Amino acid sequence: MIKASDFGKDFVWGVATAAAQIEGAAEEYGKGLSIWDTFSKRSGKIKKGHQLTTACDFYHKYKEDIAMVKLLGFQVFRFSISWPRIFPEGKGKVNQEGIMFYHRLIDECLLQGIVPYVTLYHWDLPEALEDEGGWAAFSINHSFNQFVSLCAKEYGDKVKNWIVLNEPFGFTSLGYMLGIHAPGKTGLTNFFSAVHHAAIAQADGGRILRAEVRNANIGTSFSCSEIIPYTDRESDVLAARRVDCLMNRLFIEPLLGLGYPTADWEVMEKFSIQHSTWRHTERLTFDFDFIGIQNYFPLTIKYNAFIPVVQAWEVKAKSRKKPHTAMGWEINANSFYNIIKQFSAYKGIKSLMITENGAAYHDRTVNQQVNDEERITYFQQYLAALLKAKQEGLNITGYMAWTLMDNFEWAEGFNARFGLVYTDFKTQQRTIKDSGLWFRDFLSH
Ligand code: NOJ
Repeated sequence: MIKASDFGKDFVWGVATAAAQIEGAAEEYGKGLSIWDTFSKRSGKIKKGHQLTTACDFYHKYKEDIAMVKLLGFQVFRFSISWPRIFPEGKGKVNQEGIMFYHRLIDECLLQGIVPYVTLYHWDLPEALEDEGGWAAFSINHSFNQFVSLCAKEYGDKVKNWIVLNEPFGFTSLGYMLGIHAPGKTGLTNFFSAVHHAAIAQADGGRILRAEVRNANIGTSFSCSEIIPYTDRESDVLAARRVDCLMNRLFIEPLLGLGYPTADWEVMEKFSIQHSTWRHTERLTFDFDFIGIQNYFPLTIKYNAFIPVVQAWEVKAKSRKKPHTAMGWEINANSFYNIIKQFSAYKGIKSLMITENGAAYHDRTVNQQVNDEERITYFQQYLAALLKAKQEGLNITGYMAWTLMDNFEWAEGFNARFGLVYTDFKTQQRTIKDSGLWFRDFLSH
């Protein structure tokens, strides 16, 4: 059985969260609306019509929740700053109450001996900026830089570890191409424009933090998945390559100075020719201290001529009779190892940190206990794969479990439970799951 100490004494263990998913107080204390507040009210796209109004009420319960992070044995707490809590209109006028909330939160972490890792953008764009076109509009970069700059100046003395963007492929594809996440936009033009502005934002954000924060450890995070062709037929292999361009290469390559991966996919090539702004420039590059990779599952991909643009189709784990979580995501620790290797192969990456990994199951409490053996097995397998990669000499500096407690899982509402702690959304009572207790034990050895 592996132990936390096998990873070495400098290895960082953390647990990750995001503002919109846990805070609640969505329309209080001067906070402006985010695209998720409006999307959850209007769209009919959130399961059971769930809304973020109260979420886990972390805004009021942060002291107890940080105490829980400590109790579980983690050194690091990753959380994000809600942009509309700081700038209710996205830019311009600052909400002092919002500023003070994050001061209190950071101070509480430090008081309890927990190291804060702060994400600047975890998907809750101010609605006022979406009204100007959101990530699809070039003006977003100016507003984002103003937000980063303010956070860096305000908190930089106390916070040294920063993550600029959370999963840019996630929010651009789900929110601006497929329309299943906020703001619910669709189409390739929206998507590729949003990609470009997010790619600028991640590099600009890095530069601003470097200039403003002394001794900063600056990263940004990417979703990634090993892409496995369904067969070795050329059509499947090429379909898998297109999906790899989108899901794994789209943001890291321009960041490292390699440009967008247009050569491997003609649609992207055409797009970049038609849209002169969608070109590689120096502005897209930045030398991050670490790259956060977030992995949950691999994808098995088959050619399908009926799917517009990408002509690829996912063959789901269930239909292949593979083990999967309550989200239908394939459980495959070896693919976690493979995607870590894929990212490690880029020369420009200084170090990797796993900034999210975890699993949703249909948990329930019985006599104030949550028996989630499957989640424990998931973590055991994924951590063993991580250790293997680390022992082969890859520079992996830390691991963060997703997530501290069950929370608002975007379009799934409160139905998908990823937490190490069970949240009763009616009473706000927290119950540490067996997987949380397992982590506590694991981290103590
Ligand atoms: C990706 C996102 O960063 C996070 O917000 C989400 O809840 C988890 N992964 C699980 O889907």
